[in-house]
Amino acid sequence: MIGLGDMGIRLAEILLSKGFQVTVWNRSAGKADALAAQGALVADSAAAAISASPVIITCVVDYNATRNILDTPEARAALKSRTQIELSTGTPQDARNAAAWAHSIGAKYLDGAILATPRQVGHEFTPIFVSGSREVYEATEPIMKALAGGLQYMGEAVGAASTWDIGFLNTVFGAITGFFQGARLFEAEGIPVNQLGDMIGKLGSVIGEMIRFEGDVIHHKKYDEVESSVKTCYTGIGLFSRSAREAGISSEIPDFMYNIYQRAMDAGYGPKQLGAVIEVLR
Ligand SMILES: NC(=O)c1ccc[n+]([C@@H]2O[C@H](COP(=O)([O-])OP(=O)(O)OC[C@H]3O[C@@H](n4cnc5c(N)ncnc54)[C@H](OP(=O)(O)O)[C@@H]3O)[C@@H](O)[C@H]2O)c1
Repeated sequence: MIGLGDMGIRLAEILLSKGFQVTVWNRSAGKADALAAQGALVADSAAAAISASPVIITCVVDYNATRNILDTPEARAALKSRTQIELSTGTPQDARNAAAWAHSIGAKYLDGAILATPRQVGHEFTPIFVSGSREVYEATEPIMKALAGGLQYMGEAVGAASTWDIGFLNTVFGAITGFFQGARLFEAEGIPVNQLGDMIGKLGSVIGEMIRFEGDVIHHKKYDEVESSVKTCYTGIGLFSRSAREAGISSEIPDFMYNIYQRAMDAGYGPKQLGAVIEVLR
């Protein structure tokens, strides 16, 4: 296990608790102390950690940091014929670059994306997406299943796991950023913000179904099967901006959204189903 930030420590703890032999290394010393007490072997260099195991999991701040760690003569030599699983967050292109580099030095490679916080890792529902060679996936599945019961293999295209991850994160952070605007309105109107969070938590499946439905609309171009027209939604988003101005709070988030819907209206998509907005982003 290379990288002992919040996530790497948690991954190592889970593997130890499930009976794996784990060797750890981190750029800054000291973070391995608690893991050593739980039975981890602590390597004094990345190359030594790599040499100790057939499978190397990397989980650091980003793919550049991983490359900096692995791209030394000693680490490259150690990694040859071994398997690297990258669990740092990155883009699909990061994954393709990392796979190409690993293959160029004779290593096997699997790309992964953790869709959970450290506290959520290790449970039967925890989602981790992986992609790349099926053979490498099947060989490492017991390790990955130990980390995440909700493990999903997304296929041979190595960028797939990151694509799913970034698609998911875009959706979640779009919603969370909208939530901040709702929270400001609640503050301005004197209603405790946690009550909005609690309500959204209860409506999670309703919001999920709305997104699933628009995904289907976009995929099949079912813009003429209208139940929520672009014009109706455009009018609603106009209210988000006006409510902000009336409350004396920032309207930058709804104004940003309104601009996109305005372009959809200008392009003539007003009578179409909501998912047609994607046409102006294309
Ligand atoms: N935490 C989460 O909720 C979460 C959820 C999903 C995915 N992830 C992903 O998991 C990865 C790790 O996240 P984290 O929460 O563990 O982050 P973190 O607590 O900030 O730890 C960062 C890790 O990266 C190492 N690092 C940073 N820059 C480095 C460099 N230039 N060279 C070598 N090592 C370097 C740090 O080493 P030092 O200890 O020496 O600084 C540390 O081990 C990220 O890609 C993150 O997106 C995290």
